[in-house]
Amino acid sequence: MKALLKTLSEAYGPSGAEDQVREVVRAEVRKLADYVTVDPLGNLIAVVKQQSKTGKKIMLAAHMDEIGFAVTHVDAAGFARVLPSGGVNPLASVGQRVRFANGRLGVVGLDARRDDLGKPPTLSEMFIDLGASSRAANPVQVGDVAGFWRPLEDLGGRLIGKSLDDRVGVAILIETLRALKRTPHEVAFVFTVQEEIGLRGAGVAAFGLDADLGLALDVTRTGDTPNGPKMETALGAGPAIKVRDARMLTDPRIKELLLARAREAKIPTQLEVLEGGTTDAAAMQLARGGLPVGCVSVPARYIHTPSEMVDYGDVQQCVALLLAVLHKPIEL
Ligand code: CO
Ligand code: ZN
Repeated sequence: MKALLKTLSEAYGPSGAEDQVREVVRAEVRKLADYVTVDPLGNLIAVVKQQSKTGKKIMLAAHMDEIGFAVTHVDAAGFARVLPSGGVNPLASVGQRVRFANGRLGVVGLDARRDDLGKPPTLSEMFIDLGASSRAANPVQVGDVAGFWRPLEDLGGRLIGKSLDDRVGVAILIETLRALKRTPHEVAFVFTVQEEIGLRGAGVAAFGLDADLGLALDVTRTGDTPNGPKMETALGAGPAIKVRDARMLTDPRIKELLLARAREAKIPTQLEVLEGGTTDAAAMQLARGGLPVGCVSVPARYIHTPSEMVDYGDVQQCVALLLAVLHKPIEL
């Protein structure tokens, strides 16, 4: 699974430009699902057909897109100015390498003459240097989007990489589909688009599928770093079962279902309350007449930087938890 995580993490895929990630996913799931479709927005949906009359229709979602830098202007000297695509952290951007769809690399530079040196920099004070000596020589155009570029590093128990938000969720869904031998349910594994700019893909996918319940797989913050936020979640303590975040209250029945299956399978879990940020589950919950949803979160440090860190044991436990849920009948 580490090799798959590496491929997914290193793939290029800012919001609206998920096609390179989608092709990696498609190649993995093609032979595992009963059928695979791509909807008009670009969500890839791999379905395992219902195997029992009492089964439920379940939507599982993980987003393929990553945060990025959208080019707004290229100046005469060849430097590109950018807008954030999603929740880019300016502090984490200076000096980082970024990559465009065509593979071209650049570095994020900071204006030397800033208006207020006491304040943290904003993205409008930054530019991307692609090594071009003029506007004409710059290999990118207005509207092109770059993502961070970093290879995934394996520290043994822990992994560091770009876009583990949410390629780790994508990998978990693929591994769950691979390991799923029997289920009474119809299960739609949905690899969503445009999460980072407002949960757009998950909303239309949930409407189209009209499922009985839904689960999102995504990362969440932790409170286990020096002077970190007051948060219960920590790396290595198992899947985090979301109770609430800034835009979603987990259906209590789904929370209890996840906790019960984890207990039976002896999978360690932690409860998550996330003060800022949300996931695809928030959009799924509000589709059509409403959907009971929950979220299984992978604890992660340094989210939305080029060096997001997760614990590999947590990742494996998330797969085990999903399998435990899918194997048994569900009463809501
Ligand atoms: Co994110
Ligand atoms: Zn995410």
